[in-house]
Amino acid sequence: MSGAKGKIAVLTSGGDAPGMNAAIRAVVRTGIARGYEVYGVRRGYNGILKKEMSLMSFTDVSEKLQHGGTFLFTARSAEFGEDAGKRKAAAICKELGIDALIVIGGDGSFTGAKNLSKYGVNVIGIPGTIDLDIAYTEYTIGFDTAVNTAMEAIDRLRETSNSHERCSVVEVMGRSAGYIALWCGIANGAEQILLPEKFDNNYDMLIEQIKKNRKSGMTHQIIINAEGIGHSYGLAKEIEKATGIETRATILGHLQRGGSPTARDRVVASVMGAYAVDMIDQGKQNRLIGYKNGHVYDIDIEEAFEMQKDIDEYEYEVAGILGTRCSYNI
Ligand code: F6P
Repeated sequence: MSGAKGKIAVLTSGGDAPGMNAAIRAVVRTGIARGYEVYGVRRGYNGILKKEMSLMSFTDVSEKLQHGGTFLFTARSAEFGEDAGKRKAAAICKELGIDALIVIGGDGSFTGAKNLSKYGVNVIGIPGTIDLDIAYTEYTIGFDTAVNTAMEAIDRLRETSNSHERCSVVEVMGRSAGYIALWCGIANGAEQILLPEKFDNNYDMLIEQIKKNRKSGMTHQIIINAEGIGHSYGLAKEIEKATGIETRATILGHLQRGGSPTARDRVVASVMGAYAVDMIDQGKQNRLIGYKNGHVYDIDIEEAFEMQKDIDEYEYEVAGILGTRCSYNI
């Protein structure tokens, strides 16, 4: 220790998410307010292995809140993925006198944190991923911004799709989770949504429904396809061939990860960042920060990993009723 209460290090890892900067800012400023030295680690776990970190001041995090991305950079570290890498990282944390490490990231980053905790590092996790796919928490930083970005893009697609009386397959992010697709399905009034958690590969039924929709007078149709299902270009071709309706595919891709965070993402990130420091200040060890029943809370990292998350059945049903998903036939 250096006159301060202790040393806290903070890093961002895995896919970036709008609001990560707000979380870093909250960690730094709350840390300083509570009497700690706070170190910003660059490029995720790689930054620990390479000792790429620096002491952060109150003003080092000025003008960051409103920007997407992460000014600490992010990375996926092959070396840290190995057991030897984790041992090395833990030894470096000890050598540098880091009392706690705050990890802002998704599931993969938390797996790394959990394993690191086994080597004696006190880890505190803040969920930052646009995918909303972390079981123990109702909210993950970045989701709101990403969904709004995708929603606006799909609104635009609908206009051109309508003008040309086409069918549009639009692929949104979510490697193994369909939350962005589900929310856009409702927010954009999509005719169909294909979620990795739900879709049964019944393409014949999908095509039949598209034909029925056209017969019933629909001039155009939006099919939101989650990245986890993929093959959007192939699907568009198949739809065009089977229905005779001109069909285009659009993959929104990484643009969904950028952009200025919404108020919700800024506020949640700020509250979670501050709460993470307060966990450390209260002497808590190896906790993940989340939202439950609308309030910020913390949970033991091991316990959090035992939980599972499912698509909200009622929201899925609503998307089907309000759109035209097969089995809710018009
Ligand atoms: O941020 C989560 C996520 O967007 C996933 O939905 C997606 O599969 C993944 O990141 C892709 O990340 P990258 O291209 O950076 O590996």
